[in-house]
Amino acid sequence: MQILDGKQTSETIKQEILAEVEQLMANGGKRPHLAAIIVGHDGASETYVANKVKACRDCGFDSTLLQFEDSISEAELLNEVKKCNRNEEIDGIIVQLPLPHHINEHKIIEAIDYKKDVDGFHPENVGRLYIGMPCYISATPKGILELLTRYHISTKGKKCVVLGRSNIVGKPTAALMMQKDMGDATVTILHSHSQNLKEECLQADILVTAIGQPHFVTADMIKDGVVILDIGITRVADSTRSKGYRLLGDVDFDNVAPKCSYITPVPGGVGPMTVSMLMLNTLAAAKHTYYPKE
Ligand code: GUN
Repeated sequence: MQILDGKQTSETIKQEILAEVEQLMANGGKRPHLAAIIVGHDGASETYVANKVKACRDCGFDSTLLQFEDSISEAELLNEVKKCNRNEEIDGIIVQLPLPHHINEHKIIEAIDYKKDVDGFHPENVGRLYIGMPCYISATPKGILELLTRYHISTKGKKCVVLGRSNIVGKPTAALMMQKDMGDATVTILHSHSQNLKEECLQADILVTAIGQPHFVTADMIKDGVVILDIGITRVADSTRSKGYRLLGDVDFDNVAPKCSYITPVPGGVGPMTVSMLMLNTLAAAKHTYYPKE
C-alpha cells in the first residue's frame, strides 16, 4: 500500500506555478490575480479561503479577499460579483460555498463571468467539460486526476466508482473520469438512493468517496488492490486537539488502507490538491488559455 501524498504533490505544483509566474513577469506579463468572495463566518469556509489566499502568495499571485456578513442581500452580492467581472485587474473569481439560505447559489454562480470562473462551477464550464471543449475543470476532480497522473496510475478502461453526486465533486468527477483522453474510465455514480451499494463498491478499481460521512467505507466494501481517493473532510469534536476537532475522511482508513494499492490520507490527500488546481486555473485565466482574449 502506498499513500498518495497530496500535500507534497501540491507543494511541487505550486513551485512549478511560481517559476512560471516569475518567467511571465520577466517577459513583461501581468501577475495572476484571484478574487475570493466569502459570506459569513463559518469556520471551515474561512479556513478553506485562507488556504487559497496563502496559496496565491506561494505562487506569486495577487489576491483580493472580499468577506461579507451573513446579512448581505442577494442583490448586493450579485453586485459585488459583477464588480469583479468588470475589474480588468482580476483574472479569476471564486465565491466560497455554501452561501446563506436566503441567497440562491445558482444565481450567484451564473453571475460570474464564465471566463473568470476558475472554480469551473458556471453552467458554461460544466457543459463544456461534458462535451470535451476547453474549459475550467473544477478543482477537486482536476486534483484527483492530477494526483493519479503524477503517481503514474492509469485510469484508462478501469472501473471507477464515485460515491456521491454533488455538483461540486461527485458529478464533475464522474464527468472527468469518463471523458475521452482524460479519465477514459468506466464510471458508476452511487448516491443515497442507490441499491446494492456494497456490491457496486466491491467492483471498483478506483473508488472516489465524496459523501461527508466519517468511516462510511469499510474494509468489507472494497476489493484488494483498489485505489481510493477520499474527498470527505468532516470536523469531529476532539478535546485532545488544540483546535477542538479533528478531520475525518469517508473511509475507515486504519482497516481499509492495508487492502489498497494506493490511498489518500485525510488530511493531506485531495484537499491540498484542490487548492493547487485552483491556482493552475487562475494561471490559465491570466494567460487566457481556455478563452482567448477578445
Ligand atoms: N466549498 C467547498 N468546496 C468548494 C470549492 O472548491 N469552491 C468553492 N467556491 N466553494 C467550495
